[in-house]
Amino acid sequence: MQLDETQFETFVFGVGIGIGACVLAMAAVVRPSKASATQRAAKEPLLKTAVHREPLLSTEERLVARLSSQFNLSTDTLVRIQRQIIVDMKRGLAVDNGAIKMLPTHVTHRPKGTERGSYLALDLGGTNFRVCEVTFDGVGNASMLQKKFKIEDAVKTGDGEALFDFIAECVKIFLVENHGSQEGAKLVESRKWQLGFCFSFPVNQVSIDEGSLLVWTKGFTASNVVGVNVVKLLQDAFKRQNLNIAVSALVNDTTGTLISLAYTKPNTYAGVILGTGSNCAYVEKVANIEKLHGPREGLDEMLINMEWGGFDDAQVVIPRTKWDHALDSNTPTPGTWTFEQLISGMYLGEVVRLVCVDLAETGELFAKCKLSKEMRTIYAFDTAYMSAIESDHTHDLADTKSILEDKLHMPGSTLVDRRILRTICALVGTRSARLAACGVAAVVCKMNKLSEGCIVGMDGSLFELYPYYK
Ligand code: BGC
Repeated sequence: MQLDETQFETFVFGVGIGIGACVLAMAAVVRPSKASATQRAAKEPLLKTAVHREPLLSTEERLVARLSSQFNLSTDTLVRIQRQIIVDMKRGLAVDNGAIKMLPTHVTHRPKGTERGSYLALDLGGTNFRVCEVTFDGVGNASMLQKKFKIEDAVKTGDGEALFDFIAECVKIFLVENHGSQEGAKLVESRKWQLGFCFSFPVNQVSIDEGSLLVWTKGFTASNVVGVNVVKLLQDAFKRQNLNIAVSALVNDTTGTLISLAYTKPNTYAGVILGTGSNCAYVEKVANIEKLHGPREGLDEMLINMEWGGFDDAQVVIPRTKWDHALDSNTPTPGTWTFEQLISGMYLGEVVRLVCVDLAETGELFAKCKLSKEMRTIYAFDTAYMSAIESDHTHDLADTKSILEDKLHMPGSTLVDRRILRTICALVGTRSARLAACGVAAVVCKMNKLSEGCIVGMDGSLFELYPYYK
């Protein structure tokens, strides 16, 4: 190992978990004055296609207009949202209980590209759990071995200790597969590793390697973890597996995204995740972090994990529909993380499903089909279906028909049904992209980077896979 501890702490995750290659590829250069017109042009045809270009029946037209008025956010509203995000960012930097949490990460510098060595990295918080081994060559290149593990809902929502035992078992499997085939498990147990833990949940971090979970998000509810130092929980689980691993750094996925891109693009100032969940980390001046405890001498900047999913929980600036309220009331913590519910991949399909069920009950949609068990099942309408429906360019929306029939067991839809369904997807997806754009705009303005520009790293399945989202 040739990194010193500080270098390791501030750096390993970025390239390690963040998951390097796709993040690097997804760099978005924010130069608002030039970019905005292009971005608008990219989004608008989507709604025009859905709303204006099709030969609409008048009842269909009326329904689409009604839905559009509920989901479309005016430019004025978007500007108000962006301004309020900046107000709440400033407040969150001053107090502990702000609407946006603005959590200090204790990452105080970014990589130089000269770091070397091999490290383990874990990524917990998305659809899959990942174990990685990352090797840095000291001249700006990183290579990575990784293995994905599916986390069953029973593990996400069961006993906390069992969740951390599952993680440690996965690490052992990974090490035996990659380092133990000749020498056996014993060698795996004897080699000392440093590990970075990318734990993508809100954590009150007191140092780079210590932090307690504030609240679970994204459907995790494992017991006895909230309020506890998650590094200790992981370290104890490694001991139970006889693994000689030191957990040296704890980071959020947004922090990892920012750092991994900064490894090759030093002008990176923010990292955004648009995936199962949504959030942003950015570079803040230490002088602006009023609530920061501990010594500040010699510290110029620190990455802040915003946890923007909690923005507007008081529901003051963003207009919500009745379906948004219905979704929220069925989450483990109603009234919280409502911005994330409007943006992230975990929730978009569910909003679409709730609209469909409602319209089917009033006879305005799927009048000739019976609502299937799947369509009535919470979270059964996967956000991936929305991507497929929005990508359906067949004249009779045949791909949409297949999803309705094969995935949702809803045969008998009419072309009008399918057009309305596609419009609902476009409205919900577009609202998400616009709200995420408000967040990015707010962060760039807060950093005063509007005129000179900066790079924002973007990662996550929604950003990568959802058509027109970018
Ligand atoms: C979590 C964040 C995380 C985001 C993206 C949210 O639910 O609170 O910590 O960065 O998801 O994974």
